Amino acid sequence: MERPVRVQIVEVSPRDGLQAEARTLTTATKLELIDRLADAGHTAIEATSFVSPAAVPQLADAGELMKRLVRRPGVRYPVLVPNEKGLERAVAAGADEIAVFVSASESYARKNLRRGREEAVATALAVIAAAKAKRLRVRAYISMVIADPDDGATDPKAVAAIGARFMTAGADELSLGDTIGAGTATQVRALIAAHREASVPVERIAVHFHDTYGQGLANVLTALELGVAVVDASIGGIGGSPFAKQATGNLATEDVVWMLDGMGIATGLDVAKLAATTRWMAEQLGRDLPGRAARALVS
Ligand code: COA
Ligand code: ZN
Repeated sequence: MERPVRVQIVEVSPRDGLQAEARTLTTATKLELIDRLADAGHTAIEATSFVSPAAVPQLADAGELMKRLVRRPGVRYPVLVPNEKGLERAVAAGADEIAVFVSASESYARKNLRRGREEAVATALAVIAAAKAKRLRVRAYISMVIADPDDGATDPKAVAAIGARFMTAGADELSLGDTIGAGTATQVRALIAAHREASVPVERIAVHFHDTYGQGLANVLTALELGVAVVDASIGGIGGSPFAKQATGNLATEDVVWMLDGMGIATGLDVAKLAATTRWMAEQLGRDLPGRAARALVS
């Protein structure tokens, strides 16, 4: 497989990034973040999530944020939804792209979605069908695709079987999440191979890596060499799941872009503007952020 000449980065910081932060930002600050991300060249920005506000208070302003968001032409703003109630709220707020999410592991399905894996998949399939009937674009996340802290290693075939069902239901894109960042290149290869065998087109696969063990970039490179061309990332490496303590930051956008720039792979992103946004974000959150390239570019 040839490496892609262009990679689509899906920026997840306004959602995945902010959902586990101790500090809840104002709606105005979140909107400024989204604007800065678009200024840096982002064309896919996951804006917020329509989950239960009691479960994720950091994003309780989802409806207001979407109503105040000034959309730019050529930029997609997907939002996370857990169920049909979330879909209804998202549509009422003007969303035209959603992301559903399930876990490949039983334990995390119960922690994150408060139901068994199979029941959660059934809910997601129903939401995908309802969203496609409304002509929305749909991403489908599967988390814990490499391993779960309680259940151990995840069977790649089990992940691909869920992925194939999502594709059949009409999902436009499948984002494979190593939520605890435990995977290495060998496991990423097995995961992508299992999807190929399950007839999930590689063009429809996105990878979503957390950098917990420092494997993020190696895993992205491995996926690119297998034909994947969509990569989820979060500025400064912020993010994680409030329901999985082992999930530390996402892979930092500017680290991925530094690598892709160096390899001559286009992203449309300006790494210096991303680094400046990371610096600003660190001030808003009141803490140092784990991403490496922003620190290097600033000093
Ligand atoms: N938006 C707003 N409120 C919602 C909702 C949604 N999408 N889904 C459920 N609720 C509300 C219900 O209305 C109900 O409210 P009430 O107690 O005032 O009547 C309450 O939440 C419980 O509803 P129920 O259907 O029993 O849901 P649940 O308790 O089984 O919760 C989830 C399941 C998944 C909806 C909820 O736990 C959740 O949103 N979790 C967040 C998951 C997340 O964001 N994880 C990080 C992303 S990886
Ligand atoms: Zn993530």
